[in-house]
Amino acid sequence: MRLPDYNEERKRNRETEFITVNPTINQEYLGKKYFIRTYGCQMNVHDSEEIAGILENLGFVETDSEETADIVILNTCAVRENAHDKVFGFLGRCKHIKETKNKDLLICLCGCMAQEKSVVDEIMSRHKYIDLVFGTHNIHELPNILMSLQPGLNIEVKSNEDNVYEVGESFKRDSKISAWVNIMYGCDKFCTYCIVPYTRGKERSRKSADILKEVRKLKELGYKEVTLLGQNVNAYGRDREDEISFASLLEEVAKIGIERVRFVTSHPWNFTDEMIDVIAKYDNIMPYIHLPLQSGSDRILRLMGRRYTQKEYLELFNKIKTKVKNAAITTDIIVGFPNETDEDFEETLKVVNECKYDGAFTFIYSPREGTPAAKMEDNISKEVKEERLQRLNKIVNEYSNMNNKKLLDKTVDVLITGVSDKDPNKLCGYTDTFKLVNVTGGKRAIGEIIKVKITDAKSFSLDGIAE
Ligand code: SAH
Ligand code: SF4
Ligand code: F3S
Repeated sequence: MRLPDYNEERKRNRETEFITVNPTINQEYLGKKYFIRTYGCQMNVHDSEEIAGILENLGFVETDSEETADIVILNTCAVRENAHDKVFGFLGRCKHIKETKNKDLLICLCGCMAQEKSVVDEIMSRHKYIDLVFGTHNIHELPNILMSLQPGLNIEVKSNEDNVYEVGESFKRDSKISAWVNIMYGCDKFCTYCIVPYTRGKERSRKSADILKEVRKLKELGYKEVTLLGQNVNAYGRDREDEISFASLLEEVAKIGIERVRFVTSHPWNFTDEMIDVIAKYDNIMPYIHLPLQSGSDRILRLMGRRYTQKEYLELFNKIKTKVKNAAITTDIIVGFPNETDEDFEETLKVVNECKYDGAFTFIYSPREGTPAAKMEDNISKEVKEERLQRLNKIVNEYSNMNNKKLLDKTVDVLITGVSDKDPNKLCGYTDTFKLVNVTGGKRAIGEIIKVKITDAKSFSLDGIAE
């Protein structure tokens, strides 16, 4: 048993070592079926690809539902409270399957919620039907953990991680077209509302040589797009004296010549001119930037520990817009942070009205245990938070609609990623600016970048016809 500990999770001190791990086949698991359900950010999506890869290396095969699985893995997100009920709802379904149909079903919970002490306490007292809880830093240990499972509840959560584990090709990637590539793990920004620095540990960059090797391999395999992943990619290399900067890494990745290069997420703080220049210089670096604002009020930004002012944010925003041709910029905004007044909220709206974002993810503030903001009084009523969110969403949607409408009757490049969710007779894909397009025609184009004429534009997607 290893239990999460907030004090340990807060620590940032030791040197990073690079460790290569290689899961191998185990007869015991041959043909057993796994099902993974994933919540949360791209980091979690990619972790699930790693977990799937490890399980397949061990001999497991994938199945498409918890009903037919021998092992169910729930990869969770802790960033806001609202995921909690969904996760326990799903676990309840698994419990039912275990009680009625498959007494040997292994139920596992991993991801960021596993790093939360309160969640693990709750599991220990009320959800003993769960077989295994493992943390975000235990993924590479999974073969050993599974081998040594004891009857009943097993908890294997490492609170802290200093090292970088290289798993080589042991990913089962969801797509053959577009791939996630971790460039760094963890976060040291400690925005006061955010649990990620605790659940993901300290910032540690992968070696640029390993990242470039992975991207070259993906290109050889025919991938058209890579997305470089980090909670704050600007910080890439800063934890190591011998490493290149994010701008240089991005440039090296672009030079490999894969058709589309993307990255998420970049903090507005430390977004260097060098980064903007590299994005502007290479046609295969997509003109799409996710630039989280969180709040437009300097007072609230300071309370959030965001390290920039409204003026600095707007200067950066305008610099990117000026230098990167046709750049689309999206954002994240939190409403109802402790002590947010109507005037503070108006400042947020002011920035939204000035930036006219291509899109925005908007959230009601959710106190997370162990973070500094959770100690501030959550003194904005639910009604006020909801009213602010609605006002904000209305404006945000108008701007995304307005930006999307600018593409009407234009012909754009779309990387076709699959069949449309909305209509099986249509394909879907993304523009360089990361706008979703449902495409009529172009039947065999999955995995290709094709010209599409845009015929309709809504707030969240476009319609078009393959040319
Ligand atoms: N590293 C990314 C953020 C990852 S979390 C970044 O800094 O951009 C994704 C988003 O969730 C954040 O941008 C923030 O808007 C939101 N978020 C994080 N903690 C939150 C909280 N306690 N309550 C509400 N929203 C939160
Ligand atoms: Fe959270 Fe801030 Fe780190 Fe983003 S940069 S993960 S919001 S602490
Ligand atoms: Fe959620 Fe963890 Fe990502 S808290 S947003 S899954 S890093």
